[in-house]
Amino acid sequence: MILCKSILELKNLLNSAHHNGKSIGLVPTMGALHEGHASLITACHKENDLTVVSIFVNPTQFGPNEDYEKYPRNLTKDCQTADTAGADIIFSPKPKELYPSNDMTWVEVTGNIVKVLCGRTRPIHFRGVATIITKLFHIINPDKAYFGQKDAQQVEVLKKMVKDLFFPVQLRIMPIIRESDGLAKSSRNTYLTSEQRKAAVVLYKSLQYAKKLFTVGERRPQTLISAVTSMIAAEPLSHIDYVELYGLPGLVPVPTTITQPVLLAVAVKFGETRLIDNIILEAE
Ligand code: PAF
Repeated sequence: MILCKSILELKNLLNSAHHNGKSIGLVPTMGALHEGHASLITACHKENDLTVVSIFVNPTQFGPNEDYEKYPRNLTKDCQTADTAGADIIFSPKPKELYPSNDMTWVEVTGNIVKVLCGRTRPIHFRGVATIITKLFHIINPDKAYFGQKDAQQVEVLKKMVKDLFFPVQLRIMPIIRESDGLAKSSRNTYLTSEQRKAAVVLYKSLQYAKKLFTVGERRPQTLISAVTSMIAAEPLSHIDYVELYGLPGLVPVPTTITQPVLLAVAVKFGETRLIDNIILEAE
């Protein structure tokens, strides 16, 4: 595995791969790699000749009071994890390499898709994600790019961006990887105290409860939202940011009865740590 820090070095490495018709897969990450990321890297390794993993804590997707400074960074450990999972190249540039000028060019998806869910409390987040992913796509020119379903809104935003801007890349969306008690793997789980960690399992339990209701025929969005909200609110350490339900694709509003696949998504704070999780509900 090769660790590469500059765009020029990376392009030189990829030139011959492109030239020889080798397929290139990209797994964009912000590091702090866990089994969720490893599953994306392994899938990428299986489906492509060359697997590039980017490790870059992207400053433009963090709001002023968010955790950019304290976001966990451990390049040595991340390189080991990525190598074991099947990475061929790690691209880990400094911020100046990807943002050489303070006068920014942005890529911004607009509309409901970025205003709902996390967009309400993180108004600049998806502009930062769309911009950095555009830069990575242009530098690497991957055939396929891998993202986790845990960041469901990010997935919808990037699908729209790829479609609207005609990016010649296939997005591969991989299932959520969970701890044995159901908590979705996340780099931010490390911020939780042991009490908060125990309490956080309520996210998974409440989504499973909603799935059960849906399976036995419940199709009223508000009933599903209320069931999840009450269950999470009953956990004293939780502070709900949102429990919302939108139609797929595109996070469209759902009328009084569910007739299409929907995303039921939650964001909940435990102390200062904000966790997200979701489930797709779809009639069989
Ligand atoms: O999902 C993430 O870790 C980030 O949002 C991403 C896609 C790597 C962009 O910085």
